[in-house]
Amino acid sequence: EKTLPVIAIDGPVASGKGTLARRLAATINFAYLDTGSLYRAVASLILERGSDPNDSVVAAKVADSFTADDINRSDLRDEKVGQAASIVAANQEVRKSLLEFQRNFAKAPPNNHLGAVLDGRDIGTVVCPDAEIKLFISATPEVRAKRRHKELLDRGDESIYARVLEDLRERDERDRNRATAPLRAAEDAVTLDTSDMDADKAFEVAKSLVSERLSL
Ligand code: CDP
Ligand code: CDP
Repeated sequence: EKTLPVIAIDGPVASGKGTLARRLAATINFAYLDTGSLYRAVASLILERGSDPNDSVVAAKVADSFTADDINRSDLRDEKVGQAASIVAANQEVRKSLLEFQRNFAKAPPNNHLGAVLDGRDIGTVVCPDAEIKLFISATPEVRAKRRHKELLDRGDESIYARVLEDLRERDERDRNRATAPLRAAEDAVTLDTSDMDADKAFEVAKSLVSERLSL
């Protein structure tokens, strides 16, 4: 049985991996999975019950009952959900529960797509270590905070740049230093520093790399 190609896109907060992954997937007719939304969904469910994301027993139980529908929750992009997501994401049981969903998506992308693009923190290192293409998207914390701040303002969310930068550094630090599946570039990943690139330029560079590797 022939396996379909997988593109793994990892990177820190607001590096532009989601924007890039979504556009790339649409262009080459691959299915797209934003794996951060799984951790955000678990966090959102925990906050809804008034529980503490640091409570590992509760977090494990909530993650165990996770279903695809949970990705449609309306508060997933809230900063407080993002922070809580990075807390539950350090929980080994939570990661174990969500792993199968991600691997199944990569192995059998929905709707007859020709392959799958997954973005997150550990796609190239843990979820899909055999991915055909691995990209690691980076940019300075200041540039990323500026991007996230603009997104929040555009959405009508009151927010202060300095606070966004502080939250982003905190989340990056937690994601990089956790024991299980920390954020890092896989050894065979191509790193793309987008500090001086707009979203169109980043897409162009990624697209040409993908076309070359998959001979599209
Ligand atoms: O998924 P991730 O948190 O890495 O980032 P995102 O949700 O894709 O958001 C990145 C934001 O920065 C979006 O508003 C993009 O328009 C913008 N941006 C980008 O994605 N890529 C660049 N090279 C420059 C800006
Ligand atoms: O879009 P943004 O970069 O703000 O965050 P996200 O990709 O939605 O991920 C939210 C949180 O989920 C991250 O801070 C990570 O702690 C966690 N996450 C993870 O641990 N592994 C993944 N594959 C994806 C997200």
